[in-house]
Amino acid sequence: MKIKIILAVDGSKNSDWAVDFLLKIPLAEMPQIRVLRVIPQRKHITPFLDSVYHKLYKDAIQEKTDKDILSAETQTTRIVEKLKARWDDVESVIEKGHVSDKIIEKAKEEMTDLIILGSRGLSKAKFFFLGGVSQKVATYAPCSVLIVKKKIRTLKKILVATDGSGYSDAAVTFLKSHFLTKEVSATLLNVWDYPVTLPQFALEAVEKKHLKEMHKVAFMVNAMCVAGEPAEAINDIAHRRKVHLVIVGSKGLTENKRFLLGSVARKVITYNNSSVLVVRRIEKQNTI
Ligand SMILES: Nc1ncnc2c1ncn2[C@@H]1O[C@H](COP(=O)(O)OP(=O)(O)OP(=O)(O)O)[C@@H](O)[C@H]1O
Ligand SMILES: [Mg+2]
Repeated sequence: MKIKIILAVDGSKNSDWAVDFLLKIPLAEMPQIRVLRVIPQRKHITPFLDSVYHKLYKDAIQEKTDKDILSAETQTTRIVEKLKARWDDVESVIEKGHVSDKIIEKAKEEMTDLIILGSRGLSKAKFFFLGGVSQKVATYAPCSVLIVKKKIRTLKKILVATDGSGYSDAAVTFLKSHFLTKEVSATLLNVWDYPVTLPQFALEAVEKKHLKEMHKVAFMVNAMCVAGEPAEAINDIAHRRKVHLVIVGSKGLTENKRFLLGSVARKVITYNNSSVLVVRRIEKQNTI
């Protein structure tokens, strides 16, 4: 089985880091990679235009789009070549449209397992921690999403946040099944946010649930349990240990049907300095 990946690129610094990040992942299977560049297109034209300007406007847009497509082709070809040095099944795809919508639409069409993208794009609004596209894709994607926040030299240290829910189990499973686990060291972190002192058995329970199974696949793995506010503790420990990647489930124990992301997942995506992989559990369809 191949892991199907969409690598969404926009020519920004962060998107270059995303390309390099993918190259560092010790993938267990041969991937199928689609390097996707969406040329942003407005769906609307301002109503404050008369017919002469309307035509000028449309022509100007067309000209800009043609130019953008040309430069996008040069960029994606360069990226495809870089990835082809390591993997065979790599192609570039150029689309026009609303960026996050298109990425999500492609992922649905292709039954993608993982979307990889940078945490920020080309927009100038630097005071935001996370760009709009990354935020929307992480929330609405039908699959897991890796948001690359910085340049890494190696991918060795991983922090997996677990609250014991089926969603965080899926995060652990994603790591076990898609990464060559010999090559990374993982810490499983559970944050105890109950109004009673952290008991010793909490750590034992986390170890019992995951460690034996992970050791079977030759994982350098340890578990830890700390008391505190979950997102704060996850972000703090990730920062102090300088981890290269944090993995969380898209939801957790609360599992609110109305929300696509739990609050801990959302805060980790937004405020963590390290790159974050949000694992989305694919609900099994009931087939007759
Ligand atoms: N106490 C925790 N310790 C460690 N990781 C956690 C903890 N709580 C949540 N996580 C991580 O965050 C992921 C998302 O869970 P989150 O808590 O955001 O969703 P939820 O429980 O459905 O919603 P909410 O908590 O906002 O009501 C989990 O799959 C897990 O990876
Ligand atoms: Mg929760």
